[in-house]
Amino acid sequence: MRPQTATRPDGSNLVSQPRLRTVVVLAAGEGKRMKSALPKVLHPMLGRTLLGHVLAAAGPLAADRTLVVVGHGADQVTAHLAGISPDAEPVLQAEQRGTGHAVRTALESVPESAGTVVVLNGDVPLLRPETVTGLVAAHESAGAAATVLAAEVADPTGLGRIVRGRDGRLEQIVEERDASPAQRAVREINAGIYAFDAALLRNALGKLSSDNDQGEEYLTDVFGLLVAAGETVAVHLAPDAVETLGCNDRVELAALRRLLRDRVNEGWMRTGVTLLDPATTWIDVTVTLDRDAVVDQNSQLQGLTTVGAGATVGPDTTLVDTTVGAGATVLRTHAVGAEIGPEASVGPYAYLRPEATLRRKAKVGTFVEVKNSEIGEAAKVPHLSYVGDATIGARANIGAATIFVNYDGVSKNRTVVGEAAFIGCDTSLVAPVEVGAGAYTAAGSAITADVPPGALGVTRAQQRNIEGWVLRRRAGTRSAEAAERAAREAGGASEGEALHGPSVAGGSDPAAGDTATE
Ligand code: UD1
Ligand code: CA
Repeated sequence: MRPQTATRPDGSNLVSQPRLRTVVVLAAGEGKRMKSALPKVLHPMLGRTLLGHVLAAAGPLAADRTLVVVGHGADQVTAHLAGISPDAEPVLQAEQRGTGHAVRTALESVPESAGTVVVLNGDVPLLRPETVTGLVAAHESAGAAATVLAAEVADPTGLGRIVRGRDGRLEQIVEERDASPAQRAVREINAGIYAFDAALLRNALGKLSSDNDQGEEYLTDVFGLLVAAGETVAVHLAPDAVETLGCNDRVELAALRRLLRDRVNEGWMRTGVTLLDPATTWIDVTVTLDRDAVVDQNSQLQGLTTVGAGATVGPDTTLVDTTVGAGATVLRTHAVGAEIGPEASVGPYAYLRPEATLRRKAKVGTFVEVKNSEIGEAAKVPHLSYVGDATIGARANIGAATIFVNYDGVSKNRTVVGEAAFIGCDTSLVAPVEVGAGAYTAAGSAITADVPPGALGVTRAQQRNIEGWVLRRRAGTRSAEAAERAAREAGGASEGEALHGPSVAGGSDPAAGDTATE
């Protein structure tokens, strides 16, 4: 929206509501102390990068333009921006000559000189949106030239100090390395988040010098310049100092991640989610959980994961971009891009890969891997199976150690198992193949041709018993001893039977009694 402008007594334009707002995020620094090939602002933290968190905090401002100053790792940061915030415009600061130089570079790329410019450091991931809107609202309603977000902290080491005059008003912001001992004692610090009148900022940026310990153009010097020019500058206190914490190394990254975890977890518990061990539960800011969901210890819920009402997840479970239906149970499981239907049961020790879709009340049990497959309503894959590129009908039962042989070395093929079909243990279903509704396969079969509905598919060789083999070829072993003992105990007439059994096993119905496991 175009701003309505009014003329100030000094002739400059004052913008009244609705104001033009420009957000500038500073993200060109290297982040040396991270010791990383990845630019600092791209380090992830519970579902967003550091930069992503800062952009999200600025989101409610509904800025007319969002400029992100990039430099170190500019290509990587630009590519990331295109993914998460396509409206944000990267501006290259080829040489990092300070925060003031960074903002000056950003503003050179925009013609407007009106409204409010909001500047945010790119490495303050705990900043809340309410705090940013609060800062900007206070700034705009006071008609201030510049407003800085400040916080009172126990340990201000390394940060810029808010230096106030006798009357309590902000006089300047002084970097620690340029500060006098008295100024260093100040515990009120600059969070690196500001709102400026655009025209006054532009004017002051033109006057910055790099006459300081680092030889850089400091954005913070704009405050001293504005005060000297008789402009009104203001300090806005952050409601919670934690929000202003920056991230400079991986120890701080871990500390900030824990703080964000606690904030996220507290939020979910207050909406009616049970977290049995919040300290070991890591929920991305992008995840949603419904009432009475329960998350047990050592679990990570990531990306676009959603957990339905009354579902139980964990312990020891990682869900990435996975939907868990109401009342489902997911125990010691790793799932990526899966859809788990309501009242379904997964694990312990299951691996669900992308496009694994479990319908209502389906079961995927222990040591089962599922990929790009639909498990029908109330169908079961209880143990030790690989299910790839398959469609399994409702109420079908897949016996232990069944393998869906989906890959012929060149292409992937589909297997269809019909409704209420019964796949015997250790069946290989060699795709493309279809087992009809209500059909059976015999345990140990390699099914390479379709099995019609209601038929039994069996492909295994007949069993042959070689009598007395152990006594002859393994004499003196514990097996031979056991065989001899069994023969003695059976004694008399039935000796031959007990020792050798029938000469061919299985009889006329190879499926009977040996296809399934429960
Ligand atoms: C800055 C502030 C300090 C404040 C602190 C809060 C200045 C001079 N000091 O110090 O008062 O307490 O933030 O965290 O502003 N950046 C660029 N281009 C540059 C230099 C920096 O884009 O040429 C970016 C960095 O990537 C970073 C942000 O600006 O995201 C802040 O820069 P940094 O060097 O970390 O400033 P601090 O020394 O922390
Ligand atoms: Ca910093």
